[in-house]
Amino acid sequence: MDLGTTYLGMRLPHPLVVGAGPLGDDLDTVRALEDAGASLLVLRSLYEEEITGAQMDAFLTEETHSESFQEAETFAPDPLTPLGPDEYLEHLRLIKSAVSIPVMASLNGVTPGGWTSYAKLLEQAGADGVELHVYHAMSDMTSSAADVERQAVDIVRDVRASVSIPVAVKLTPLLTAFAHFARQLDEAGANGFVLFTRFHKVDIDVDELEIVRTLSLSDNSELPLRLRGAAALVGRVRSSIALSGGVHRGLDVIKATMAGAHVTQMVSALLRHGPDHLRIVRHEIESWMEEHEWSALDDMRGNMGFQRIPDPAAYERMNLRMALR
Ligand SMILES: Cc1cc2nc3c(=O)[nH]c(=O)nc-3n(C[C@H](O)[C@H](O)[C@H](O)COP(=O)(O)O)c2cc1C
Repeated sequence: MDLGTTYLGMRLPHPLVVGAGPLGDDLDTVRALEDAGASLLVLRSLYEEEITGAQMDAFLTEETHSESFQEAETFAPDPLTPLGPDEYLEHLRLIKSAVSIPVMASLNGVTPGGWTSYAKLLEQAGADGVELHVYHAMSDMTSSAADVERQAVDIVRDVRASVSIPVAVKLTPLLTAFAHFARQLDEAGANGFVLFTRFHKVDIDVDELEIVRTLSLSDNSELPLRLRGAAALVGRVRSSIALSGGVHRGLDVIKATMAGAHVTQMVSALLRHGPDHLRIVRHEIESWMEEHEWSALDDMRGNMGFQRIPDPAAYERMNLRMALR
C-alpha cells in the first residue's frame, strides 16, 4: 500500500505532518514524533514583532494547555516561552541536527518589510521550507480587502525572492474571495497553501472587565471548512495543499486527500494523545484503503475536488439547505 505524497516538491512517505505549534519545542518530543513516523515537522511561528524588536505578540504566551496530553502526560511540553530570533535559529539548528525528517520554520507577520529577509537566515540554519502565516486582524477601517490581500502577496513575493527553499502560505478562512486570493499568491510564487489558520477564542470576562483569550484544542467538526477550501483549489493552482484543522483520525486524512490535500497537519490530536497517535492514524488509513481496495493515496487525491465532481456548487448549497432546515 502506497501512502506516499509530494508536498512542496518533497517526496514524503505519507501525509502525516506535525503542524506549527509547541510540539516542536522539546527535543525529546520531536524525537518521539519522528519515531512514531511523522513525515515532516513544522516549528511554531516566529513573529514579525520579535524580529523587528517590538512588543511580543500575546499569542505565544497566552496559549492554554489545560487539555494537553491527557493520555500521555509524559509528553507534555514545557509552557511556551517566547523565542527571540537568535534563539529560534539556534533551536532550528538543534532540531535539524537531531532528526532526519524535513523540518520547516514558520514566520508570522502582516506588514511587508525587512523582517521577511529573516527567511534567508532560516534557510541558512537548515530549514527545509518556510511556512508563512500572514493572518491579518482585518479590523482596520482604512484598509480594504484589496489592501490586505496586496500586502500578503507582497510578503510572499519578498520571501520567495530571498530563499530557494519552498514557501508555503497559511491562510485564514475569513476571506471575501478566497480562491482568487489563492491564485494571486500562487502567481506570486507560493509553493503551498496551508488551510486554514485556527483562531483564538476571544471572550469577555464581565466581572473583571477583561478580554480573555484561549486556544482550545480542536475536534474534527472543524474539518469540513478545510475540505471545502482544498476542494476549491486542487487542480487549479500549482501549489501543494496542506490541510490544517480538525484532522484527528484516519478517516479525516482520507477525506482531506479526496478533497485535494497533499498532506494533513495535526496539532491538537497529538497534544491530546501524544506522538504515538500518529501510528494509530496511519494504521486507520491503511485499513480503510485495504477495505475499500485503494492501493495508493495519490490515486484518490482530489477525486472530490471542484474540478472532478459534477456539481461543485453542492459544497455551498448543501450548507445553506442544511442551515434552513
Ligand atoms: C497550542 C497551539 C499552538 C499553536 N501555535 C501555532 C504557531 O505558532 N503558528 C501557527 O501557524 N499555528 C499555530 N497553531 C495552530 C496549528 O498549527 C493548527 O493550524 C491548528 O491548531 C489546527 O490544527 P489542529 O486541529 O490539528 O490543532 C497552534 C495551535 C495550538 C493548539
